[in-house]
Amino acid sequence: MPSPASNPLDIAVVGATGAVGREFLDVLEQRRFPHARIRLLASARSAGTSLPYRGGTLPVEELTERSFDGVKLALFSAGGSISKHYGPVAVRAGAVVVDNSSAFRMTDGVPLVVPEVNPSDADAHKGYVTPGIIANPNCSTIIMLVAVNPIRAAFGVDRIVVNTYQAASGAGAAAMDELRSQTADVLAGRDAKPVIFKEPYAFNLFSHNSSMDAASGRNQEEQKMIDESRKIWRDATVKITATCIRVPVLRAHAESINLTLKQPATEKQVRDLLASAPGVTVLDDRAGNVFPTPLKASGKDDVLVGRIRGDESQPSAGTGPDTKFQGFNLFVCGDQLRKGAALNAVQIAELLG
Ligand code: A2P
Repeated sequence: MPSPASNPLDIAVVGATGAVGREFLDVLEQRRFPHARIRLLASARSAGTSLPYRGGTLPVEELTERSFDGVKLALFSAGGSISKHYGPVAVRAGAVVVDNSSAFRMTDGVPLVVPEVNPSDADAHKGYVTPGIIANPNCSTIIMLVAVNPIRAAFGVDRIVVNTYQAASGAGAAAMDELRSQTADVLAGRDAKPVIFKEPYAFNLFSHNSSMDAASGRNQEEQKMIDESRKIWRDATVKITATCIRVPVLRAHAESINLTLKQPATEKQVRDLLASAPGVTVLDDRAGNVFPTPLKASGKDDVLVGRIRGDESQPSAGTGPDTKFQGFNLFVCGDQLRKGAALNAVQIAELLG
């Protein structure tokens, strides 16, 4: 495991009481991320409470303009408006900010990093010498790129058609609570009361809750998958189309991914690439009908990849195992709170050490 900076840093976790914030603490603890002081920051509502960490508890403080004095690394996950305001405050105080919101992802000059894909994009902040913001990509984008990048590196990717099945956690702790309470209500014969989402969530699914562009018909989540993948890959021409759906699952996203490669490949070539890819576990047992599920991915660091198969609707040549396919299908599951958010951010911080 990489060692983050030779001298332990003071770090801050902004949004520590939230779904991703709590996961930051778990990941920092599990990976034994070296640090000196750690400040847990949230709204005034949470000031005075405490959270478990390394066998003890740590106090939660209210986020203020002075919260970043002496802080060298600030992990943010308290929403875009908090990042927009306090991200620059932390940078002025001398910190490297790893921001989980979408506030700065598409800003020119702000690195957007998946450590398995484009680690060198974070190089400008190595050693925590130069303060600045590094953006953590959208959860669905991270999970897709961890699975697709090894294939792209070997054979090139011309086009991606991706359909997502997204968990409640992406909308925060309150959305996870809404799924739990609605499920209990419906099972008890009561009406589900939608609060966070417009649609009933228990025993239902719906188009992603982010706002939709009236002209294109794409919601923000779909647009993020397109724009962020292009930025991370530095490839403005890769064709991507996405349909993002919220499903009643607590914390891991699933994605059905159809690829058109630039160079055709055999199924064995693709499977072997994925089997040795960083951050990927292949789970693809056709005989047993055992494949990735959100529950299997929950709490795991790796993205699970299965249903690896040539796409018979696209050109192919050859027969049997030697068939070379232009297109491939994958089914991928990844923990939204871990690889989709907290783990990816802490891995970015580790790159800088
Ligand atoms: P709090 O728990 O005090 O409201 P989630 O993404 O799970 O909804 O969590 C959002 C996180 O952002 C929580 O830690 C929440 O703190 C924090 N947060 C929300 N509003 C503010 C604010 N105005 N100042 C600081 N932290 C905030």
